[in-house]
Amino acid sequence: MSVSGTDVTGREPAGPRHIAIIMDGNGRWAARKGLSPSAGHKAGVERIRDLIEACKERGVEALTLFAFSSENWQRPPKEVELLMTLFHSYLRREARRMQEQGVELRVIGRRDRFSPRLQRAIAEAEAMTRGGEQGTLVIAADYGGQWDIAQAARALAEEVASGRRSVESIDEAALAERVQLADLPPVDLLIRSSGEQRISNFILWQAAYSEFYFTDTLWPDFGVEELDEAIAAFRQRDRRYGGRSEDGLEAQA
Ligand code: IPE
Ligand code: IPE
Ligand code: MG
Repeated sequence: MSVSGTDVTGREPAGPRHIAIIMDGNGRWAARKGLSPSAGHKAGVERIRDLIEACKERGVEALTLFAFSSENWQRPPKEVELLMTLFHSYLRREARRMQEQGVELRVIGRRDRFSPRLQRAIAEAEAMTRGGEQGTLVIAADYGGQWDIAQAARALAEEVASGRRSVESIDEAALAERVQLADLPPVDLLIRSSGEQRISNFILWQAAYSEFYFTDTLWPDFGVEELDEAIAAFRQRDRRYGGRSEDGLEAQA
């Protein structure tokens, strides 16, 4: 099946409109080469630029990348420091390119644990790319799915406490509006590299009906071909959302 063309029925292939990726395997990639994890992280960052371009070409509207989890602070201090430096230089280097491409850059996660300098770089990169209409790149940094749900719950609790909202009005829709990514298309496809098959506290709420794609490829080896394989696999999936698809069991009966 061609990824960019029409499918066998001649229809435009549907989506994915939003892809999220757990970029895992930098450490193992480096270890196999006898290098430190830092070398793996540096190589991993280099994969991002081509993927953004490829997503744009394939009509993907949003790409969300898990760069640093709430739990990654537990890594050795030197590794954390290197990751922060890489994040900072990435923002400084790539924001202008994204602005030129019309890609809006957004960072989700806690910000208060980052240095003031990194917080400024995030704000500047977001301001520089704001309003870009060719697509959205979301970087999840100091992000945890549990944090995300907790901050949404806190926002609702504040509304109740101040009398702006009733307890009875709190439902799935109210929470869905307050978790991160709420204004973007739902995450259709969630990819994890490196062979691990777990979510590691990434988007817990938003992945309720995402299609999962796991690959053994380590992140620094993940390229556009692999992205196309994931998209092709996604387009073969039968998304039922708990219902029964039209050409499902009845057609077989
Ligand atoms: C993913 O690569 C990057 C971050 C978590 C920041 P890892 O560093 O987790 O790579 P492995 O899992 O050790 O191979
Ligand atoms: C998840 O990978 C976080 C990122 C890729 C940013 P980890 O390597 O931290 O996850 P675990 O520890 O294997 O679950
Ligand atoms: Mg890992």
